Amino acid sequence: MSWPETTQRNRDGVLEIGGVPLPGLATQFGTPLYIYDEQTLRGRARSIHAAFLNVYERTRIVYAGKAYLSPAIVRILNDESIGIDVVSGGEIFAGVLAGVAPAHMIFHGNNKSRVELAEGVAAGVGLIAIDNDLEIELLNEVARELDREVNVLIRLNPGVDPHTHSKLRTGALDSKFGFPIADGQATRAVARVVTSSRLRLLGYHAHVGSQIFDPRLVEQTIAAMMSFAAQVRDDHGIDPSVVVPGGGFGVADDASGQDVSIEVWARTAADAMRSACQRYGFSLPEMIVEPGRAIVGPAGIALYQVGARKVISRDRTYVSVDGGMSDNIRPALYGARYTACVADRESTGLPIETVTIAGKYCESGDILIERIDLPALRPGDLLAIPMTGAYCLAMASNYNLAPRPAVVLVRDGAVRIIRRRESYEDILRSDIVTPPGEAPAAYDRLSAVIGSL
Ligand code: LLP
Repeated sequence: MSWPETTQRNRDGVLEIGGVPLPGLATQFGTPLYIYDEQTLRGRARSIHAAFLNVYERTRIVYAGKAYLSPAIVRILNDESIGIDVVSGGEIFAGVLAGVAPAHMIFHGNNKSRVELAEGVAAGVGLIAIDNDLEIELLNEVARELDREVNVLIRLNPGVDPHTHSKLRTGALDSKFGFPIADGQATRAVARVVTSSRLRLLGYHAHVGSQIFDPRLVEQTIAAMMSFAAQVRDDHGIDPSVVVPGGGFGVADDASGQDVSIEVWARTAADAMRSACQRYGFSLPEMIVEPGRAIVGPAGIALYQVGARKVISRDRTYVSVDGGMSDNIRPALYGARYTACVADRESTGLPIETVTIAGKYCESGDILIERIDLPALRPGDLLAIPMTGAYCLAMASNYNLAPRPAVVLVRDGAVRIIRRRESYEDILRSDIVTPPGEAPAAYDRLSAVIGSL
């Protein structure tokens, strides 16, 4: 994909996003800093929505909140008529805080707890995707206790292998997600759900994986789901009114790569749905699509400050930056390959060197980019990494007790901070130190000095 659509170099050669020069942001908010471009965010949401509505009128888009559940971002997406897919009590809470109507949420997860189910039902979450047998039991109990009827989907494992990274695969038969269709588990789940007076089966959900670049997989997924739906109709007389073929649109992490075409995907999904409905005599159900990365990934960039350099041999130079695996675990976890550019000065025409961008954490695997050609970097330079809007902050940790970065939203030259940088106190807020006692004098001295640095 690419950089946020408003990215440009100004006359001084400095990188700007949303009309805001990045060096000023680094000075004001510190680095690492995550910057989201509101125009790109809204643009992505609208174009994905339009791509589906153009070919399938009864489409709804829900944002897979796990990609980055920032209440401020979710509120913007809500503004664009996009709901959210949530996977935990925490995500339901954040969605409600953001102002999303619970009716526009779908609740997923392969091991939702009784408490989380109760929270979802009490909040009035629109659809709960049932993943396993225990959940049928728990949800029944919770619905009875709260005296509610709950609209549910059955999460199907359609046995479609997406051939993506093994950690991003969910639809192949060997998966912890959903009821396999192949061995009858899904059929038995439906039989249990339909006997419940509290659970209303509205349809089916499947999500075969993330980073999918071949739209034919959605065709296979929908075909498998609808053939299952036809079997359920024969057994129980229930037609599907909602079908959710998941998210997973492939977006290249490396900005030079090729994304899957959302238009082709949408058309493929719509055609598959129409032909299945014709074949089995269903009227067209509502189709809900769950993009995460495709909405927020390209809207966000990470900004780091360059520090130490270490030359190991003629072909290995490490350049370390002030963030790394605690704010972006994806290179270490999935071998994700990113690109980068110098943000604080013109970089064309300078001699190029091949360097490895290392993070600052105490771990050899903390490498952000293996071997990239960049103009010679100097300590204090700013390095920007695009395509970091999804699954970076969402999976951020406090490894080495690193405060998680600040996050800003830029638009038309204006800056809005949507998450402040964590303080050391934030990181330790839940620690219980015994014996309580007086804070040692050294703590007071350090606290005073931290504020003044
Ligand atoms: N729907 C369901 C049920 C999902 O489980 C997911 C992602 C999505 C939608 C959205 O997929 P997307 O459109 O964002 O590809 N941490 C990994 C990605 C894990 C995805 C988990 N489920 C990464 O950094 O690549």
